[in-house]
Amino acid sequence: MIPLPPELPGLLLGWYRDHARVLPWRSQATPYRVWISEIMLQQTRVEAVRPYFLRFLEALPDVPALAACSEETLLKLWEGLGYYSRARNLQKAARMLMENHQGVLPPSFQELRALPGIGDYTAGAIASIAFGLPCPAVDGNVLRVLSRVTASTRDILSPQVKKEFAAALAAILPDCPGDFNQALMELGACVCLPNGEPRCEDCPLAGLCQARARGLTGQIPQKAPKKPRREEERTLLLLFRGDGSLALRRRPSPGLLAGMWEPVNLPGKLDAEGAAGAIRELGLAPGDLIPLGEAKHVFTHVLWRMTGWRAAVTGEALPQAGLVWAGEGELRESFPLPSAFRAFL
Ligand code: ADE
Repeated sequence: MIPLPPELPGLLLGWYRDHARVLPWRSQATPYRVWISEIMLQQTRVEAVRPYFLRFLEALPDVPALAACSEETLLKLWEGLGYYSRARNLQKAARMLMENHQGVLPPSFQELRALPGIGDYTAGAIASIAFGLPCPAVDGNVLRVLSRVTASTRDILSPQVKKEFAAALAAILPDCPGDFNQALMELGACVCLPNGEPRCEDCPLAGLCQARARGLTGQIPQKAPKKPRREEERTLLLLFRGDGSLALRRRPSPGLLAGMWEPVNLPGKLDAEGAAGAIRELGLAPGDLIPLGEAKHVFTHVLWRMTGWRAAVTGEALPQAGLVWAGEGELRESFPLPSAFRAFL
């Protein structure tokens, strides 16, 4: 274990009291609000989460509302945040809470950890922030701060390193573990910035930071190289009928963007002729094909390189094409469209 300086909590909490951002899930830290915010924050930045959080809480203010809402409502509220399995897991967990916990989040790290979508970090965050339980919460920001404070050059993607930092934190947790955990995250998000750009002059830990003392903030934290993402060429066909409606179909489940709606999305990079042929295979007759350019979208394990075509179409699509036609209003209200396609819509 890497021991942490005992002065760390005092210095950090003093700084946090003056510098904490005012965030809607902080000013009213109920377990439900903390849970929703932590799930949204798993892969999205604070500023991007704020409006989604407020809208979500207004539509689904508590566990019973989340457990009961339709998949469509849920995904629509999540549209644009990405990583939609987070939303599905939220609802699965809400239904389990209705069944087994009288519709409330349990004040126990282990019981929180057992819910879908809740790993060690999120269980620690909810347990400490919402219930004041003495649990560490180690996310990427925290790993960066602690690696720099201790000048650790170990790989922060390694589960073992995470475990050791969690144990080191557990040994110095003050009696306000929720503020302490958030202060560490906040320092990582606002001061101890990644990519060799920390704002050490504003850091309450500058005096005890070993990376700073040794001029190593640019090299720390260390991450083992990840294996490169698989790249796929895709062709997006935006097919419009005379009434202005757009052809959509539903993605299979399970899989990438499971159950989400999308324009016709085919493997490979099709030219105008190929695209026209693909449209005929759906049973439709294409007018002129208008190029929409190229866009890419990065998922966790795959990168899509997309080429877009737009065409007016006539005729009846074959039933096996699985198309539905969405007017502009319906597109906004009813069909959750992944942000992967934003460039073309
Ligand atoms: N990132 C994830 N959760 C956070 C929180 N509660 N405060 C600041 N940054 C966070």
